Amino acid sequence: MKGLVLSGGKGTRLRPLTFTTAKQLIPVANRPILSYVFDHLRDGGVREVAVIISPETGEEVKAFLGDGSAWQMKVDYIVQDRPGGLAHAVKLARPWLGDSPFVMYLGDNLLQEGIEEASAEFSAEKADAVIMLKRVANPSSFGVAVLDEAGNAVRLVEKPKDPPSDLALIGVYLFSPRIHEAIEGIRPSARGELEITDAIQRLLDTGGRVRTRVVEGWWLDTGKKDDLLNANYTVLDAWTRRELAGEVTGSDIDGRVSVGAGARVIRSTVRGPAVIGRDTVIENSFIGPYTSVGDNCRVTNSAVEHSVILERSTIRDVERIEDSLVGRDVTICSQTGKHKAIRVLLSDSSEVEL
Ligand code: DAU
Repeated sequence: MKGLVLSGGKGTRLRPLTFTTAKQLIPVANRPILSYVFDHLRDGGVREVAVIISPETGEEVKAFLGDGSAWQMKVDYIVQDRPGGLAHAVKLARPWLGDSPFVMYLGDNLLQEGIEEASAEFSAEKADAVIMLKRVANPSSFGVAVLDEAGNAVRLVEKPKDPPSDLALIGVYLFSPRIHEAIEGIRPSARGELEITDAIQRLLDTGGRVRTRVVEGWWLDTGKKDDLLNANYTVLDAWTRRELAGEVTGSDIDGRVSVGAGARVIRSTVRGPAVIGRDTVIENSFIGPYTSVGDNCRVTNSAVEHSVILERSTIRDVERIEDSLVGRDVTICSQTGKHKAIRVLLSDSSEVEL
């Protein structure tokens, strides 16, 4: 089975971070979301992957994934000149996919369960599609499926205002080559995109075998700040191990904490689950649970909890930072001197709570 990873699109909801980074490369527990996607594909036996990239962020995605050898895979890239929809991306990849069955994985989806069980079902049932579903509280934000009593899909709708069910489509789909004919039969939706949901509906309408799999494990949206903090929390909780590669001096490291190579923790307390990136220095500080500090950061005389700090940022003399998402190359420090004022240099779409 081949793999098709969608890593184009615009990522407007995660601004300002996505002004400078592809949304699929935003780190969760210090690893870009795409690395979890590739772990799942590799563990599911996929060896050849095409990645859909956009002209704006494609180079950065390429620089991260390279030729795929880090996952023992062969990776090719397909540039999509505009976000024309998920089915538009499949259409572009058709020459690369040929007659192969494939798994399509949206590059911003993060889920606990891998693709093994879905692909076993796909083969055993000789299905034309296996879709994964999850019960959610806000179905109007997703593609939604209506099932019959036997669990077969009978109707699929993309982001319905009045949702007919609470089963959302997860961004992992297995397809036989019949999906290409179905895509030929659909038109752009009201939002101007060729929707994969419409193509799967078309597959159903033309007698295709569409199987469903309702997933119990977590599935995380990384769309907005609080979603990303929640994703960081969940992944740290589920997958962090205690690994102290860096140097720890006069400090307490409690529980599942990973300290990267070249990092130094000096006269500080770090409570897990937490990750400290490579070459980062934590000095005279407290790093609380559910915190990820990226590579090459510096935290001095400060306390940070339930937060994500990206690479090369500095936090100095700050009493407490909580529930925060801090981008790359950011400095947060308290001021000395008598004249107290707030001084900021913020990019577009930033948020500060004082
Ligand atoms: O996350 C699951 C949801 O993903 C499903 O429930 C929906 O049915 C499905 O349409 C999709 O909805 P979104 O509106 O959340 O998709 P989004 O535009 O965020 O794109 C998902 C990923 O695919 C993202 O990594 C960007 C990439 N993409 C998207 C489009 C529209 C592309 O590579 N090319 C595109 O043209």
